Amino acid sequence: MDFEKYKGRSVLITGGLGFIGSNLAHRLAEIGDVDLTIIDSLADMQGGNLRNLKGIEDRVKLTVADMGDSWVINHLVGGMDYIFNLAGSVSHIDSMKLPHNDLHYNCTAHLSLLEACRMFNPHVKIVFTSTRQVYGKPAYLPVDERHRIQPMDVNGINKHATEMYHLLYDRAYGLRTVVLRLTNTYGDRQQLNHNRQGFISWFIRQAINGETIELFGEGRQRRDLNYVDDVVDALLLAGLSEEAEGEIFNLGHPQNVSLAEIASTLISLTGRGTMAGVPFPPERQLTDIGNCYCSFAKIERVLGWRPKTDLREGLQRTIDFYERNREHYWNVDEKDSLSESYPSFKQIA
Ligand SMILES: NC(=O)c1ccc[n+]([C@@H]2O[C@H](COP(=O)([O-])OP(=O)(O)OC[C@H]3O[C@@H](n4cnc5c(N)ncnc54)[C@H](O)[C@@H]3O)[C@@H](O)[C@H]2O)c1
Repeated sequence: MDFEKYKGRSVLITGGLGFIGSNLAHRLAEIGDVDLTIIDSLADMQGGNLRNLKGIEDRVKLTVADMGDSWVINHLVGGMDYIFNLAGSVSHIDSMKLPHNDLHYNCTAHLSLLEACRMFNPHVKIVFTSTRQVYGKPAYLPVDERHRIQPMDVNGINKHATEMYHLLYDRAYGLRTVVLRLTNTYGDRQQLNHNRQGFISWFIRQAINGETIELFGEGRQRRDLNYVDDVVDALLLAGLSEEAEGEIFNLGHPQNVSLAEIASTLISLTGRGTMAGVPFPPERQLTDIGNCYCSFAKIERVLGWRPKTDLREGLQRTIDFYERNREHYWNVDEKDSLSESYPSFKQIA
C-alpha cells in the first residue's frame, strides 16, 4: 500500500490520544513529513492516554479540548487536507446509562466539526469511524452494507445519525466524507482500565493477570475481530480514495470465532488464566447482538483492503505489548499527569 501521498500534507486526528487514533498517528509519523495535529478531550472513562504518543510527541501538535467547542474546532480545521474523525464514545453499556453523554460524544460534537469544515474548509476529506453496532441483531450473516439498520443501544443510534450527518455534508456542501463501520478492534494502546469498552481488552487483561475470564452465555457468540494495524490501513486507504467519497464500508475479518475460542487462545498464548461460563447480567443481555460478523467484500472491491493479521498472531503481538507496558494501561488517570508528561500541550477549556 502506497501511503507516501500523505507526505507534505496536513492531517487532523480527532480522538487521537485514544486507541485507534494514536495507532494512526504513529503510522503517519512513520510515513514522515506529515503535519500532524490531534484534538482529544481525554474524556472520562474513555481510552485517551498521553502515553499513547510516546516516541512521537515532537511530531504532533496536541490540543486537549472538546471537539464540540466551536471556538476551538473552528480554529483547527482550516488548512487541513485530511481529517480522521475518531473521537467518540465506544461504550454501549454507558450509552444506555448516560444517553446524554453519548449524544454529545457521538453526535453533537461531530456537528461542531462538520459545521467548522463547512465554514472554514469546505472541501476537506473526512474519514469517520462508525460501528457495525448500527445493524443490531443480524438478520443474516455475514452482515453487508445493505443489511437493515436497527441499533440495540443508544450508541448505535447516535453513531448512525453521525454517519448520516457526514454523508449529508458530502452531498449538500461538497465536503468529501467516507464512513467506515468497524468491527471489534484490538491491539496495542487500548485502555485496560475497565471492561466497558468491549470484551476483548478485558479478556487480554484477565489472561495476563492469570484470572478467570467470565463468558456471558458460555461465550458462544461469534465475532470477527480486526487487529488495529489493519484498521489503520483501511483508514489511510479511505483517505486517499476519491471513489470512496460519499460511501459506507464495513470492515471485517474472514475468521469468525466464538468468544470462548478467543478466551481459550489467550489462555494458551499467555500460559495463564482460566475461563468459566456465567449467566448474562440483565444490562448486558439487553444490548447483546448475538452472533455478528461482517462482509468486507465492498471495501475489498473498491479500496483493495483486506485484513492481513491472523487472529492468533495479532493476539500474540498485543499480549507482548501489554506485558511490556502494563503499568501505563492499568488504572491510569491521565489527567493527573497531563502537564508533567506533555509539558508542551495546549489546554483550552
Ligand atoms: N475500538 C473498537 O473496537 C471500535 C469498534 C467500532 C467503532 N469504533 C470507533 O472508533 C473510534 C475510536 O475508538 P477507540 O477504540 O480508539 O476509542 P478510544 O476511547 O480509545 O478513543 C476515543 C477518543 O476520543 C476522545 N473523545 C471523545 N469525545 C471527544 C470530543 N468530543 N472531543 C475530543 N475528543 C473526544 C476520547 O478522549 C478518546 O481519547 C470511535 O469513534 C469508535 O466509535 C471503535
